[in-house]
Amino acid sequence: MSAAQKTAIYQSVEQEIYSVLEGVTDEVAMMATISCLLHHAFDTYFWTGFYRRHKPDELIIGPYQGTLGCLFIPFGKGVCGTAAVREETVIVPDVHQFPGHIACDSRSNSEIVVPVFNKNNTLIAVFDVDSTEYNAFDETDKIHLERIMRIFERL
Ligand code: SME
Repeated sequence: MSAAQKTAIYQSVEQEIYSVLEGVTDEVAMMATISCLLHHAFDTYFWTGFYRRHKPDELIIGPYQGTLGCLFIPFGKGVCGTAAVREETVIVPDVHQFPGHIACDSRSNSEIVVPVFNKNNTLIAVFDVDSTEYNAFDETDKIHLERIMRIFERL
């Protein structure tokens, strides 16, 4: 898929997310809706969802689409825990090369994890997408997913 095609899909999904979630401030409802809309917009999305910060240094599974996700991820562990500690997006073209990668489903081959902040700029979750393709995610995904995640600044 070209960058232009990807961008067009992200823009359309972003509009849909803003429209469906107008006036909604429930964190779980927002996460469930965003996971669903993004997951079904891209064939490359194999696992799509949130890990929520339920302790200062641990994530717990949140709303998602896809196969069974592991329940807990400590900060610093795996791609999700790394993005949580760094508070920045992590793109992994080949998860088998990422030290400490947590394999919830062995069919996943690449991954992007985007941090999610509230209006106080506190990390409240991470958004994780896995693909069965290698090298499925790039700067275009990063830019659009980071923009979509800014919807949580209403919390
Ligand atoms: N692979 C992730 C764990 C979450 S699952 O992919 C759903 C990681 O290394 O953090």
